[in-house]
Amino acid sequence: MRSGPPANLDAITGERLRALLRAMPKAELHVHIEGTLEPELIFALADRNGVALPYPSVDALRAAYAFTDLQSFLDIYYAGASVLRTEEDFHAMAMAYFARAVADHVVHAEIFFDPQTHTSRGVPMATVVHGLARAGQDARRIHGIDASLILCFLRHLSEDDAFATLEAALPLRDQFIGVGLDSGERGNPPEKFARVFARCGELGLRRVAHAGEEGPPAYIRAALDVLHAERIDHGVRCLEDPALVTDLARIQVPLTVCPLSNVRLGVVPALHRHPLGALLAAGIRATVNSDDPAYFGGYIGANYAETFAALPLGPRDAYALARNGFTASFAEPGVKRRWLDALDEAFAAA
Ligand code: ADE
Ligand code: ZN
Repeated sequence: MRSGPPANLDAITGERLRALLRAMPKAELHVHIEGTLEPELIFALADRNGVALPYPSVDALRAAYAFTDLQSFLDIYYAGASVLRTEEDFHAMAMAYFARAVADHVVHAEIFFDPQTHTSRGVPMATVVHGLARAGQDARRIHGIDASLILCFLRHLSEDDAFATLEAALPLRDQFIGVGLDSGERGNPPEKFARVFARCGELGLRRVAHAGEEGPPAYIRAALDVLHAERIDHGVRCLEDPALVTDLARIQVPLTVCPLSNVRLGVVPALHRHPLGALLAAGIRATVNSDDPAYFGGYIGANYAETFAALPLGPRDAYALARNGFTASFAEPGVKRRWLDALDEAFAAA
């Protein structure tokens, strides 16, 4: 039976709150598996596959992670992903992520992957999906973590390309739960993918979309109204449109917010200026996630720790954010209830 948060919640401050942020069970709903590829693994896979990298060393590659905007990041991110060739490579990348996620007490992860980044290089769809899906099974067995896959369409490519990708993935339909939309947002509005998202809806796939990261609030509105997105990835620019804020609070479509990403890509000027607290205060169902943790300086635990250190957020916010992560997930209701019980236990023990 769920008990809810402890009555003395507000007494949890300082080191107790920091320890609780680390220890509380978490859901991760916005992580690009290609964005978990650490420089060391990029070099190991490049070596294994005979791929020449334009950087002489791990340190030189990491030094190039000085992004000015989303596109400057995407250029390096797609170059890094070019070392992935075999099913074993995709499996190794995902297993490395799961080890990090478990250390941050992630119990459930809904993981984005970008098949077009790989199929355009001649890697078969089945190689990508089998490697990632097998890692998910191994992670459940080894770490007890629950994982599922969300196939993302690259929005800088055409809708025809997205349709071809969907077609290629359908024989593997049982290995992913839904579709998303990512890559360069500016100039690639949700409407461009209206038909393919409608088809995905007919097929019973869950639908999410990046919107309102670099793109305007109108893209969030279109992701909701045209794509029928069940979650908005990022969405932080909703705050520029008060009517949209009101609507998001009313309909409770979750936002998967990624604070460290937002700082590294210049979406917000600094972590102490991040609008996470404002989103919660407005009644929006916000969650905390890592986006591309190998590139942005931290996994989900670091996102929680650094954001709470930088902003006037307290234990009620920690509880709301972690709770939102579970309620916003695509897991079965009974499974969600178990995680919410575990969350309450973590708060009761703090
Ligand atoms: N692909 C990987 N990370 C992304 C982000 N933050 N925004 C859009 N596309 C992405
Ligand atoms: Zn993202």
